[in-house]
Amino acid sequence: MDRLKGKVALISGGARGQGAAEARLFVGEGARVVIGDVLDDQAAQTASEINSKTGARVAVGIHLDVTRAADWRNAVATCQKEFGGLDILVNNAGIFNMSGLEDTSEELWDSIVNINQKGVWLGMKETVAAMRKRGGGSIVNISSVAGLTGSTGSTAYHGTKGAVRLLTKAAAVQYAPEKIRVNSVHPGLIGTQMIDIIPPDQRQAFHSIVPMRREGKPEEVANVVLFLASDDASYVTGAEFVVDGGLNAV
Ligand SMILES: NC(=O)c1ccc[n+]([C@@H]2O[C@H](COP(=O)([O-])OP(=O)(O)OC[C@H]3O[C@@H](n4cnc5c(N)ncnc54)[C@H](O)[C@@H]3O)[C@@H](O)[C@H]2O)c1
Repeated sequence: MDRLKGKVALISGGARGQGAAEARLFVGEGARVVIGDVLDDQAAQTASEINSKTGARVAVGIHLDVTRAADWRNAVATCQKEFGGLDILVNNAGIFNMSGLEDTSEELWDSIVNINQKGVWLGMKETVAAMRKRGGGSIVNISSVAGLTGSTGSTAYHGTKGAVRLLTKAAAVQYAPEKIRVNSVHPGLIGTQMIDIIPPDQRQAFHSIVPMRREGKPEEVANVVLFLASDDASYVTGAEFVVDGGLNAV
């Protein structure tokens, strides 16, 4: 119940999907959360549902485009103004595309790199000072199994998620002396709106190569993110956590 008692978390892309599941779980464990997303109405709605259920103002939804430094600064200021500081960042926002190498336009490449890769770097850059003030913190970067291995498509996505894996390790080494832990999470196929673009037959075929023969649920990723965000992971940094029903073990 109290694994994040007294902590304040900022979750990018928290309006829906895995980020929203993390916001709900974190609040259930005693945290207060700022939910940042480009989906302003949905971020406000998710925060409002959490507050209604909790009976207290423990969640706030704000506009955050992860590619914009000014938005990150506003998000950190909101954490400080609303809840007194910042202890946890979940760099969860991301976009997915299935285009192969030659089918990827420069425009598509730039948008995926900007959101999935630059967004993660900017998030860390703009939040570490606030964590330093608290004497430490935890950053959880959401990569993917696509950041560990390749496939026939999604070239830009693979590139960005691989970059998140090593950005995580570089930051972990740099900030370990300041007690800011940085880890990456690598989900497999998780049933959120992101994967609605996968044709149903391909999605079904994918299930058959997952040893557990199914997609994961957002809550199953959130449980791992909670562990990393909490003091239970006090000696864990620079590490990668695969949440994929065994896919990466094949
Ligand atoms: N669903 C999967 O199968 C899967 C697998 C591996 C990794 N992931 C990763 O998990 C994370 C969460 O994805 P999800 O499955 O919950 O999908 P989702 O599409 O439901 O959620 C992604 C969220 O990111 C937000 N977002 C997009 N661009 C943004 C921007 N510029 N600034 C701020 N927010 C932005 C979206 O509005 C959305 O709320 C992503 O990083 C994704 O790449 C997902």
